[in-house]
Amino acid sequence: MFHRFRRLRINPQLQNLVRESSVSVNDFIYPLFVRPGEGIKTEVASMPGVYQMSIDEVLKECESLKALGLYSIILFGIPAVKDSVGSDALCSHGIIASAIRAIKAAHPEMFVVTDLCFCEYTDHGHCGIIDTQRETVDNDATLELSAKQALVHAKAGADMIAPSGMMDGIIQTLRSALDEGGYNELPIMAYSTKFASGYYGPFRDVAESVPSFGNRSSYQMDPANRLEAIAESIEDEAQGADILMVKPALAYLDIVRDIKENTSRPLAVYNVSGEYAMLKFAGREGLIDYDRVLMETMIGFKRAGANIIISYHAKEVAKLLGH
Ligand code: PBG
Ligand code: ZN
Repeated sequence: MFHRFRRLRINPQLQNLVRESSVSVNDFIYPLFVRPGEGIKTEVASMPGVYQMSIDEVLKECESLKALGLYSIILFGIPAVKDSVGSDALCSHGIIASAIRAIKAAHPEMFVVTDLCFCEYTDHGHCGIIDTQRETVDNDATLELSAKQALVHAKAGADMIAPSGMMDGIIQTLRSALDEGGYNELPIMAYSTKFASGYYGPFRDVAESVPSFGNRSSYQMDPANRLEAIAESIEDEAQGADILMVKPALAYLDIVRDIKENTSRPLAVYNVSGEYAMLKFAGREGLIDYDRVLMETMIGFKRAGANIIISYHAKEVAKLLGH
């Protein structure tokens, strides 16, 4: 009999020795949604276990993240006031700048990544400045304001900047702005492959960023396109991205592999809100063994080629890993 494959599956220690991929707390970045106020911790209906928090609550949350061995977070802001240009994101006393300063003061060992975009800060909910005549996002006007936003994050003490608006030329623009501002050691994690996806639905509830007209398909990528995804990642790498990303993750693991093979920067996947919600609600209904499916999903990301996993599940994973 031909038992070549079974031989390595019988002894659990041997299985440990030959396992090709693994998941560790070191792989994770945990998203946090910050809003003004005090003592606010509001659960999002479509994402059980995910909260909008005021800064004081975020500081407490960092304490429990550290206890779980999780030291990296990505911040999203929900400002008090939204306007046509997203002024709150450009102000050194805006919600994100204030959150970064407070976190770095209370928890200097936390690695604070900032999502750089305009959709959470604009009254129209688009990821950039609107060209009112063409009723679309003005790429170059958005670049200019993005450079300002990056410097606001940098000055407040951000450890890494992650532009998510999918504007052409954003990486080059931010790299020069940061270098000129004296922040040449501040890394950029590009949302290099961000598809126009229905999986972002629950996020737009929590970030209150549903576009008031149209959709994001004039700047986010067509889910049907593989070569375009590779080309844009190569372009972002050439413009100076330090880390690349594929988002969403689950329906795009082929793209993760493609980009891993065509670029040489570390690669992140964003396990997005809709993916989180699907697992959560299936688990709640008793339809799946939640913990098992969760870990299987995470290992899938690593096996596909991801180095970093941005996930709302990070705390649950840390607990399952024994932290
Ligand atoms: C903002 C941004 C979005 C996400 C991350 N940054 C939403 C969007 O493009 O609508 C989605 C994250 C998620 O769904 O978990 N540009
Ligand atoms: Zn956006």
